[in-house]
Amino acid sequence: MQIFLDSTDTKIIADLASTGLVDGVTTNPTLIAKSGRPMLEVIAEICDLVPGPISAEVAATTHEAMIAEGKKLAGIAPNVVVKVPLTRDGLIATAAFASEGILTNVTLCFSATQALLAAKAGATYVSPFIGRLDDYGFDGMDLIRDIRTIYDNYGYETEILAASVRHVAHVKDAAIVGADVVTIPPATFADLFKHPLTDKGLEQFLKDWAGTGQSIL
Ligand code: G3P
Repeated sequence: MQIFLDSTDTKIIADLASTGLVDGVTTNPTLIAKSGRPMLEVIAEICDLVPGPISAEVAATTHEAMIAEGKKLAGIAPNVVVKVPLTRDGLIATAAFASEGILTNVTLCFSATQALLAAKAGATYVSPFIGRLDDYGFDGMDLIRDIRTIYDNYGYETEILAASVRHVAHVKDAAIVGADVVTIPPATFADLFKHPLTDKGLEQFLKDWAGTGQSIL
């Protein structure tokens, strides 16, 4: 499973990318607003930091305007993935991008039938929002599972990008049910490394090692 960062904080992205474990980055208008920086500049910088797919979201709502915006975004760098909302216009734009070889990430997906349409439109990625479904009393992971079944039934190549991920358990469950990618906030990425028994075990090992008086180098 690929791991993307859901962030526009270029300092944090650079730091986490240095682990070699970050496969791509997703952004959205809210994250761009949080950065307080011009979108085109931030996306270009992220594309330089991470060679993998970088999602940049259109702000238009008609397919004609989405296509114009998407082409501009795709021109920033070869690794830009144009992110479009899962609306009728968004899927018309997705099909147009697919016919021109422009990669797409169809976002704000909340149902399996929406995901079916995204695949039929030729989306590169579909982004089901797990956390926001959980917030409303649904089980976001059920959606990932259903989409996996549907895509496998028909051999759709659209990749399932589990989004709106809130914690480590979401990452684990998304991997178990077969999401292709998970996009996570930097704090969740940091949490993936942690386990109290790792800390406890290491503390003991280091203490015992110090007691030997040895050094490896
Ligand atoms: O980028 C889309 C998604 O990951 C948003 O997450 O936490 O705002 O629901 P969240």
